[in-house]
Amino acid sequence: MSFFELIKPLIYKTDPEFAHDMVDMIFRTARRCPLFFNPLVKANFVDDPMLNQKIWNLEFKNPVGVAAGFDKHATMVYGWPALGFGWGEIGAVTPKPQPGNEKPRAWRHIEYEAVQNAYGFNNEGVKVIKNRLKKIYPFILPIGANIGKNKTTPEDKAVEDYKILVEELKDVVDFFVVNISSPNTPGLRDLLNAEFISNLFGELKNITDKPILIKFSPDMEDELIINLANYSVLAGADGIIVTNTTVNYDLVKSDIKRGGISGKPLAKRSYEVLRIVAGEIFGKVPIISVGGIDSAEEAYKRIKAGASLLQVYTAIIFKGPGIIGEINRGLIELLKKDGYSHISEAIGVEIPKKLELKEDNAS
Ligand SMILES: Cc1cc2nc3c(=O)[nH]c(=O)nc-3n(C[C@H](O)[C@H](O)[C@H](O)COP(=O)(O)O)c2cc1C
Repeated sequence: MSFFELIKPLIYKTDPEFAHDMVDMIFRTARRCPLFFNPLVKANFVDDPMLNQKIWNLEFKNPVGVAAGFDKHATMVYGWPALGFGWGEIGAVTPKPQPGNEKPRAWRHIEYEAVQNAYGFNNEGVKVIKNRLKKIYPFILPIGANIGKNKTTPEDKAVEDYKILVEELKDVVDFFVVNISSPNTPGLRDLLNAEFISNLFGELKNITDKPILIKFSPDMEDELIINLANYSVLAGADGIIVTNTTVNYDLVKSDIKRGGISGKPLAKRSYEVLRIVAGEIFGKVPIISVGGIDSAEEAYKRIKAGASLLQVYTAIIFKGPGIIGEINRGLIELLKKDGYSHISEAIGVEIPKKLELKEDNAS
């Protein structure tokens, strides 16, 4: 039995937000202690030529990244390689500091291996986070900033918030992720529309040459996903991340009806959305899959469905900190088993070819 399995029942007795704050504190404190980090890096960090990729001119040692919300305040970046991650996102960051929603705002659904959170972009504001990043950047792994609007900013002024964030952070991160898909800021998901996206990317592209990605909600109708995927690429998005948490509360038996659900119950819809998006825009911009990835097999499935990169959050809570290394090592085995010598050969192999379908129909 691993150490994590041993202490898991104890961890699950604590409030999830408290447990997360403890992890944050350990990483913050151990930051300058190579004796703590080096053995973990050795055990968990996979840097193998089969998994190395260059995307947006950035070097990705392995495809598994820190999903947004795990390192909201950019306090754990030094610890990312120790957990095995090949890249990651900090945030969500907003222009002004904000406390987020009332506590409690995070719940575990242990039997479902799911988490429900209603944090609402609690963060110290862009100035503080920028100063923190200044001390680390450039880092050995690509760092992205997940950017969101303040709760008090009306939707018709939202573009201004995103402009401030990109302006402030453009010299301390490698790429941006526009977050208009969190369920925890009222009205935010209303911005998932063609007009806003076009306007937003038009403005942000004037401020930075760094890649700007967009993250989708799993709760949009399939038709809207198709439209917005195409529209986002036309508007200038450099990548699409699918998906954020879901408000489909039927997925878990619980009286809590706020916030978004992540983890295992999200996997099915997250995969579906990936397939829809890949069917539209694969080959135009990279696609990143996130939502319920908790094994090498699930990770490989997403890669074959068109994801160039992956992200993980909830699986760390249920499978423990060794899961990222496990996924990467497992991916290498699965690629070898199928006769591939590099991850790029497997990306998108299971996407139905539209052209061939058309030809088939014609004959
Ligand atoms: C506690 C928590 C906080 C999160 N905060 C954010 C956030 O600030 N911005 C964002 O885009 N996604 C956020 N997410 C969503 C994750 O980035 C990810 O899309 C989602 O959890 C699905 O992945 P998973 O099943 O591996 O957790 C959060 C998720 C959790 C569990």
